[in-house]
Amino acid sequence: MVHAWFRFYCFLAAFFAKVSDVQIRVVAVANQKGGVGKTTTAVNLAACAAAVGRRVLLFDLDPQANATSGVGLEKTEGASAYRPLLGEGTLLEKIKDTAFERLQIIPSEVDLCGVEIELARSENHLLKVSAALQPVLESNRFDIILIDCPPSLGVLTLNAFSAAERSGLRVSARLSAASALEKCAVVSPPTYLPIMCSMRPTPAQAGA
Ligand SMILES: Nc1ncnc2c1ncn2[C@@H]1O[C@H](COP(=O)(O)OP(=O)(O)OP(=O)(O)O)[C@@H](O)[C@H]1O
Ligand SMILES: [Mg+2]
Repeated sequence: MVHAWFRFYCFLAAFFAKVSDVQIRVVAVANQKGGVGKTTTAVNLAACAAAVGRRVLLFDLDPQANATSGVGLEKTEGASAYRPLLGEGTLLEKIKDTAFERLQIIPSEVDLCGVEIELARSENHLLKVSAALQPVLESNRFDIILIDCPPSLGVLTLNAFSAAERSGLRVSARLSAASALEKCAVVSPPTYLPIMCSMRPTPAQAGA
């Protein structure tokens, strides 16, 4: 089973790396519904893309920091994108190695909650992630940047949509997650790209 999932994520990683007409470099994994597998998708996709030779940056934009712990890093005060998003320092300084070759991360921690409030007051507040990622893109250090979004359509997720050439919108088999996806598609039409459907059935579907 693990082997099958590994092959599946490798397929997706290869897809992102080889789409012919657009070179996808920034991908947001988002759904306003919680617990639908965004982080699992982002972490596995990142690890598999690295395993097949891509240089990957996983950008944990969720204050829950599950992608950060998912690649084995402790939550560390001051390690998140909080300050660069407010214009202090650069995201390049925040990039950390992981145990996986070619996979690096911009970690998160709870202070990112504050960014939602701070950014909402500033000019061009939906373009802050995009602007902060520019030096990272220009450094040419990565083939793919995967952004793990929080479960909301708040300032952080909308920033991720603005930064992403493609928004990978994770859908589970549950109707509520699919309807949340429709709302995401409304706010992010040009970058709408549903990437997968979970095989996890609802209790009703499972006959529970
Ligand atoms: N394809 C899958 N099949 C079964 N369980 C899964 C699958 N993908 C993820 N899960 C499980 O679902 C739970 C939620 O996953 P995950 O944390 O990735 O969701 P999330 O959308 O990032 O949550 P949040 O909105 O809180 O950030 C985890 O326990 C994870 O192991
Ligand atoms: Mg998550």
